[in-house]
Amino acid sequence: MNKKVAVIGAGNVGASVAQYMAEANIADVIMIDIIEGFPQGKALDMTQAGPIRNYNCMITGSNDYKDIKDSDLVVMTAGLARKPGMSREDLLAANAEIVGTAAKNIKEHAPNAYVVVVSNPLDIMTYHMWKVTGFPKNRVCGQAGILDSTRFRAFVAMELGVAMRDVQAMVMGGHGDTMVPLPRYTTVAGIPIKELIGADRIKEISERTRMGGGEIVKLLKTGSAYYAPASASVEMARSILCDEKRVVPCSCYLEGQYGIKDIYIGVPAILGANGVEKVLELDLSEEELGALKASADKYKGVLKEIGY
Ligand code: LAC
Repeated sequence: MNKKVAVIGAGNVGASVAQYMAEANIADVIMIDIIEGFPQGKALDMTQAGPIRNYNCMITGSNDYKDIKDSDLVVMTAGLARKPGMSREDLLAANAEIVGTAAKNIKEHAPNAYVVVVSNPLDIMTYHMWKVTGFPKNRVCGQAGILDSTRFRAFVAMELGVAMRDVQAMVMGGHGDTMVPLPRYTTVAGIPIKELIGADRIKEISERTRMGGGEIVKLLKTGSAYYAPASASVEMARSILCDEKRVVPCSCYLEGQYGIKDIYIGVPAILGANGVEKVLELDLSEEELGALKASADKYKGVLKEIGY
C-alpha cells in the first residue's frame, strides 16, 4: 500500500505541494479545503495529467477532515497569504484560528502523522500546531529555512553563473525579516563563497534572501510565492517518508540548543523516518549567534500575542 500524505489547503501552495508530491511518486495525496468542489476539481485535473507526468499514485480532494485518516504525513498550508505591505506576522490571528482547527483534526484523524507546517507566520504556527496536537516534538516541524536557503542558493548561482545544484547554503533563524543567512556556511561545490564573491556583494545577496518572500509578494500583488515554498515542503516530506536523512534548515523545537528554549525556530536538522532526528549545533560566531537569539526573542514576543 502506498504511503498517504494529506495536504491541508488546496490553494497555490497546497496544490503545488500535491503536484510535486505526485511527481515524486512516493505517496497517495489527499487535498483538504473548505471550499466545496475546489480540492476535488484540482485533484481530478492533476490526476488527468498522470498518464503524461507519469504518476503512480492517487490524488484526491475532500472538504472533510475525516478523509485524512491514517495519513503518514500532513503538510499544513492553509491560511491567508500576505498582500503587499504586510508582514508575515500580520497574518497571526486569522491563521492561528485556521491552524488550530487543522491541528485538532489532525490529532483526531491522523494521530500518528508527521506534520510539516508551511502556514505563516511560520515559526509561530509550527509551535501552535505542536501545542494543539500534543504530538512529540520530532513529529512537528516547519518549512522555511530550506526555502530561505534555496533562495540564497539560487541568488548565488545567478551571481556566479554556476549550476544551482552545486550551491549549498545555510539560513537559520525565524522565517521573517530576522532570518540569519550564513555566508560562512555557504559554498559552491565545497568552495566557501567568500573566495568567489566580494564581501559587499555577499551582503547584498544575503539581504535579498532575507527579503526574498516580500520581493515576490510585491511583484505578484495578490498573494505570496508558491513554487519554491511547495518544492521546499516536498523535499522535507520526502526526507521523512523515505528516511533520506537530509540535512536541512527547518523550524524545530529547541530545548537549550544555541542557548534558546521553548520555541520553534530555523536550525539545521536531520530529517528521517523519525521526523526531526537531530538538531545540529553549529559553532556560530558571536555575531551570528546574536542574530539568531534576536530572531528567537522576537518570536517569543509574537507567541505571547496568541496566548503562549
Ligand atoms: C515566502 C512565504 C510563503 O517566504 O513565506 O515566500
